[in-house]
Amino acid sequence: MEIIRSISGMREFSSDCLQSNKSIGLVPTMGALHEGHLSIVRQSTEANDITVVSIFINPAQFSEGEDFSRYPRDYDGDISKLSALSAAAVFMPEAADIYPDGYKTYVEVRGLSERLCGMFRPGHFTGVATVVLKLFNAVRPTRAYFGLKDYQQCAVLKKMRDDLNLDCEIVLCPTVREADGLAMSSRNAYLSMEQRLDAPCIYKALKDTGHAIKNGSLKIKDIAAKLHETLSAVKSITEIQYASAYDPDTLDEITHGARVLIAVAVKMGATRLIDNIVVEL
Ligand code: PAF
Repeated sequence: MEIIRSISGMREFSSDCLQSNKSIGLVPTMGALHEGHLSIVRQSTEANDITVVSIFINPAQFSEGEDFSRYPRDYDGDISKLSALSAAAVFMPEAADIYPDGYKTYVEVRGLSERLCGMFRPGHFTGVATVVLKLFNAVRPTRAYFGLKDYQQCAVLKKMRDDLNLDCEIVLCPTVREADGLAMSSRNAYLSMEQRLDAPCIYKALKDTGHAIKNGSLKIKDIAAKLHETLSAVKSITEIQYASAYDPDTLDEITHGARVLIAVAVKMGATRLIDNIVVEL
């Protein structure tokens, strides 16, 4: 497995692959890889000749006071996990290569970026879209893979791909969960023992609400109230940022519809957890 540390090195590697007509799958990550990431890497290695995993903790997607400096880092562990899969290369650029002095260009996907997480993390999706476009330009992937736990990120990146006519298929991968239902996330490592024990309540609340609208015992317009009632009773949850029913395409809050995105963001102390399900009625 090659470890590539510069944009120029990455472009040379991808030129060689493209000249020999090899498809490239890109799995963008911020490292601290867990089974959720590894299952996405496996999807990519099955569908592409070459899989590149990028590891870059992108400063542009963290606001002041967020967890950029304490975001979990485990580069050696990540590399050994990826070597055990058939990833061809790890792209680990330096921040100064991605954002050199005087860097001024950002990608803003209006509308979708401002809803849900965007209300609590201003500028976050601009940081995500910008770095992903830069990764696409360096790696030139045939397909890029993103996990549906970050549903809004997937929606923003698909919109960027469509609006900018990018020649890359975006593949959305199902959320991988712990045995007790908690969505896998690098940030789960921040949870205290008590918070970790309480955390599966998020997915349980989503599932219970999903079942209730499917069996008709709950109306879509009552989802937000039901979720707030359930989640506010959980001791470790210190803030509910949003918990409601949304249109899966526009991310607008809805009171009726045939497909419903039920999405939640809560804080347990300093740790922010998100999760979602999509229900077809
Ligand atoms: O989902 C993530 O880990 C990040 O937002 C991404 C897509 C790697 C961009 O930094």
